Amino acid sequence: MIAEFDLSRRTALVIGAAGGLGREQALGLARAGADVAIADLNQSGLQATSLAIKAVGREVDVFPLDITVPGEVRAVVDAVEKRFGKIDILVNSAGMTRRGASEDYDQGLFERILDINLNGMFYACQNVGRLMIKRGGGRIINMGSIFSSAGIAESPAYAMSKGAVAQLTKTLAIEWAPYGIAVNAILPSWFDTAMGNVVADREKFYAGTAEVPSSADLAARTTGRVPLRRLGKPPEIVGATVFLASNAASMVTGHLLAVDGGFLAQ
Ligand SMILES: NC(=O)c1ccc[n+]([C@@H]2O[C@H](COP(=O)([O-])OP(=O)(O)OC[C@H]3O[C@@H](n4cnc5c(N)ncnc54)[C@H](O)[C@@H]3O)[C@@H](O)[C@H]2O)c1
Repeated sequence: MIAEFDLSRRTALVIGAAGGLGREQALGLARAGADVAIADLNQSGLQATSLAIKAVGREVDVFPLDITVPGEVRAVVDAVEKRFGKIDILVNSAGMTRRGASEDYDQGLFERILDINLNGMFYACQNVGRLMIKRGGGRIINMGSIFSSAGIAESPAYAMSKGAVAQLTKTLAIEWAPYGIAVNAILPSWFDTAMGNVVADREKFYAGTAEVPSSADLAARTTGRVPLRRLGKPPEIVGATVFLASNAASMVTGHLLAVDGGFLAQ
């Protein structure tokens, strides 16, 4: 491995690591040498990720967490610090989305999505940031979306939350640069996970809306809009994650890194 990408002796906390992109990010960081604390609501998923990280030969521990509860976030961050001695890298990968026309959008869903994607992310940045300030450095990687930049119909809460992730990332990058903390975001297009593959998961994604679109319709609305004309594969998120966590990115902060098959180039 090129020395700049080596994460040996680093500890990462990956929130949202029970499945999807967060699981791949946790595994990727472990493969680059980091020990990994993994947190999520989904405890069985956490156990599966933990086994996969153990197979890579790194230290791992699981932390059940609802990121929307500030007291839980603080307790988990304290517990991770106690268990591993420090947190060098934070990856914020918990997330949720549901489609629905803005004029009829369910208030409970609206609040829940903002709570997870945005408020929860802030609680995690705040609590880990406080420790990183004390230690004099660290890396924070927030999961945004192509919809941190572009708009999307029928996803008001998701688009609002992801737009705000970009602003949170830039704001913290400026505020915490003097402490040696780099804060960046990754903006994926549609990836083949429970969240991203809306074609496969369309009944759930459109639950409660007036009409569930056909698979063909949805495929045209998603991969048809990506220049590479396909979904991302979850392991394709690893390169950007390890880069931003590593010394290779020592001059990179406040950056929104699109991993989007060319979507935002259009
Ligand atoms: N998959 C995509 O196409 C795509 C595209 C752009 C951005 N993203 C972003 O990447 C991140 C990961 O997405 P994914 O595709 O892996 O989604 P996913 O649904 O597969 O995984 C999300 C994880 O977040 C966890 N989670 C949800 N609510 C939580 C809570 N309250 N507390 C703790 N954990 C909670 C879930 O249990 C799950 O393990 C999200 O922020 C998402 O918005 C994904």
